[in-house]
Amino acid sequence: MSKELAGKVIFVTGSGRGLGRTMAEKLASLGADVAIHDLEWTGPAKYGEAKDMGEVAEQIAKHGVRTVAVTGNIGDPEAVKKMKAEIEAKLGTVNVLVNCAGGDIGASGNKPKPNDALNISFEDIQVLTNNNLIGTMLVCQAFVPAMVAAGSGSVINIASAAAHMGCSPEVVYSTLKAAVVHYTRCLAKELYEQGVRINAVSPGPTKSARFQATRVVDPAKMDSSGVSFNRYAEPSEIADAVAFLAGPGSKFINGQVIRVDGGLTLFPG
Ligand SMILES: NC(=O)c1ccc[n+]([C@@H]2O[C@H](COP(=O)([O-])OP(=O)(O)OC[C@H]3O[C@@H](n4cnc5c(N)ncnc54)[C@H](O)[C@@H]3O)[C@@H](O)[C@H]2O)c1
Repeated sequence: MSKELAGKVIFVTGSGRGLGRTMAEKLASLGADVAIHDLEWTGPAKYGEAKDMGEVAEQIAKHGVRTVAVTGNIGDPEAVKKMKAEIEAKLGTVNVLVNCAGGDIGASGNKPKPNDALNISFEDIQVLTNNNLIGTMLVCQAFVPAMVAAGSGSVINIASAAAHMGCSPEVVYSTLKAAVVHYTRCLAKELYEQGVRINAVSPGPTKSARFQATRVVDPAKMDSSGVSFNRYAEPSEIADAVAFLAGPGSKFINGQVIRVDGGLTLFPG
């Protein structure tokens, strides 16, 4: 495989497990030094993907790249500041930022219940907003200025197919992901002449361990070997789009959202 990301330092938030972990592996396989992150050191164990962040870091290092594992709440400015210092001390300045941390995880650490617009609790609204929108903004505020100073960089925000169509339940989560898409466009506008690209990837339903553990899955949509696009995505299919946006092949793509959903949101527009 060509090492087209050799020399890049990439921070993937929420990469102790799930889609972020697959992205981190893919980016490392392309030669990037990768900082991995989770809310807690044992975050990767929650759905049985790894023992802890140390084990995930060992896997990333097998690609022959440098890595560092950091933990902290992306919705807490002090925690973000501390993680930035740790990453820069170990790997240097971050050139590519992937804001993957998030999800429909409420105050209990699981899906909010109730999860419809009129009944979801205030506490869950606050936690979801921190996890999906405020966190993305705070991490951008921390890491993008160095990219602006360097006159280059790429930010990839992970939104969702749910951002592009009316959804219920998961109303608050969907609304926040729509905000992530718009924030992507606005930040791209703000940095239009400064060499830093800001794009988003909107995955459709994807077979992460959490996805499978937190809902009743449709067995007919699990198999990706057939011809139909009416199925769940493989995590690697989302990671491929992220790698493209991180690399030189997308150097004139800016302020865009790539929907990796097999066409799920083709019709709603
Ligand atoms: N799996 C899907 O079907 C799907 C579809 C569309 C979008 N997404 C998005 O992709 C991303 C990854 O989802 P996943 O399915 O891999 O879930 P996941 O729960 O396995 O991964 C999410 C990661 O983000 C971390 N995180 C969440 N809030 C955080 C916070 N405030 N501070 C620090 N870390 C935090 C979690 O600890 C975890 O490591 C999420 O943003 C999710 O919304 C997933």
